[in-house]
Amino acid sequence: MAVDRSKSAILPTAAPPGNLASDGASEDVWIDVIQKMDEVYSDLVDSQTELEEKNAKLEEADTFIQSVLGAMTDVLIVCDARGRIQQVNRQLLTITHREEITLLGTRFSDLFTKDSQPTVAGFLDSLISGQEVAPCDAAISVPDGPPAVVALSCTPRRDPRGRLAGMVMVGRPIGELQRAYRALDAAQEQLSETQQRLLVSEKMAALGRLVAGVAHELNNPISFVFGNMYALKRYGAAIRKYLTACDDGLPRADLDDLRKELKIDKVLRDIEPLVDGTQEGAERVRDIVEDLRRFSSNQEEAPETFNIIRLVHTAVDWVIKAQRIKPAIEFIGPDRLDVTGHKGHIHQIVVNLVQNAADVLSGCSDGKIRVICENDDGMIAIKVADNGSGIEPAAMDKLFEPFFTTKPIGSGTGLGLYVSYNMALKQGGDLQAANCPDGGAEFTLRIPVHVSSPQ
Ligand SMILES: Nc1ncnc2c1ncn2[C@@H]1O[C@H](COP(=O)(O)OP(=O)(O)O)[C@@H](O)[C@H]1O
Ligand SMILES: [Mg+2]
Repeated sequence: MAVDRSKSAILPTAAPPGNLASDGASEDVWIDVIQKMDEVYSDLVDSQTELEEKNAKLEEADTFIQSVLGAMTDVLIVCDARGRIQQVNRQLLTITHREEITLLGTRFSDLFTKDSQPTVAGFLDSLISGQEVAPCDAAISVPDGPPAVVALSCTPRRDPRGRLAGMVMVGRPIGELQRAYRALDAAQEQLSETQQRLLVSEKMAALGRLVAGVAHELNNPISFVFGNMYALKRYGAAIRKYLTACDDGLPRADLDDLRKELKIDKVLRDIEPLVDGTQEGAERVRDIVEDLRRFSSNQEEAPETFNIIRLVHTAVDWVIKAQRIKPAIEFIGPDRLDVTGHKGHIHQIVVNLVQNAADVLSGCSDGKIRVICENDDGMIAIKVADNGSGIEPAAMDKLFEPFFTTKPIGSGTGLGLYVSYNMALKQGGDLQAANCPDGGAEFTLRIPVHVSSPQ
């Protein structure tokens, strides 16, 4: 309530009643008293005014603090040195569906779930022993709902003399964040599944186109295995006939004639190379089937040691044998180069590059593909260049994007270079495209490999 300073003016200044009225000394005393009262009243008014100003400032500060606390999206819990709650903000009340009055004076640890209580229980002891409390995640229990997980930090609160008066905990709700992370994880998993499916579909498309070439590759060894078996069958019949004659006890001279007639000595000489040749043919078939199996397999393969030159030749053969008009192949590189790396991946990339070169040259009678294989300081560089139409400048930036194709529907998936590029990257290498100065395109694959037998 405000005090009116002007009221001092209406204080009685007339002489008091009684027998002192005529006494001059008493009158002075009376005047002194009145003056003192006036002074006291004036001081009172000053103090009252000061108090009111302070009160107003206090109220303003309180409103300010409340508005700041209320605006916080983080949870705030203030405790005394015994862990009893002294203040909380609106966010905590909203999360816990509680009234402030029901929380004040209660143990702060009761706010948390049973699982989180051991985590927060040690906060005060740590602060008392002068240690910092490391930020951690804790779950605040919510009646009839899932707990609210917060990233909690806890700092000491000190009195003016620097003694521990309690602690302040600030919790950032991370439930949303966790949900977002989970959604992100699920999306990522879906993406990698889709990528895996893309990989498979590209492989199947490539395999479909390779079948003719592979069949041709298989035909060769199979046909000489058949030829050898036919010869061996004939040789078997000759040997049987000769042995029967021996058993029948034919005279020596007749036996010699028969031996010449059946070319038994030649047969005996030929058997070993024929068997070796047949075995080689069967091994070749086995290798092709193995390559094919590796090519179509979706399993992540472990690095293995292999002759990369043979692998490049196989990849080129598979593609070229399937072409109606076969481009000329020029191979530049060593005869043998044993490396350790991901055989299947390198094979698939080379098949894709050679297939693209063959595609751009299809129908062209003077098509040429040059394949260069170099050992470049811990990196294998495989270059596939053609004398085709080259890459359109507008297409240069899009080559490695999924589904980018300039081929008619049904002939191109637009996945070959995308898959190849990612495979190269996954092995710590890269794949680059360029146009050759004298026409045509050149693709360079670089893969870090361990070279075990240089040239
Ligand atoms: N040797 C090349 N010469 C010219 N263009 C090429 C060559 N290789 C690839 N390209 C271009 O890159 C595109 C994408 O190739 P790729 O990813 O293998 O998919 P696809 O072969 O199914 O079209 C091709 O459609 C073609 O336009
Ligand atoms: Mg392709």
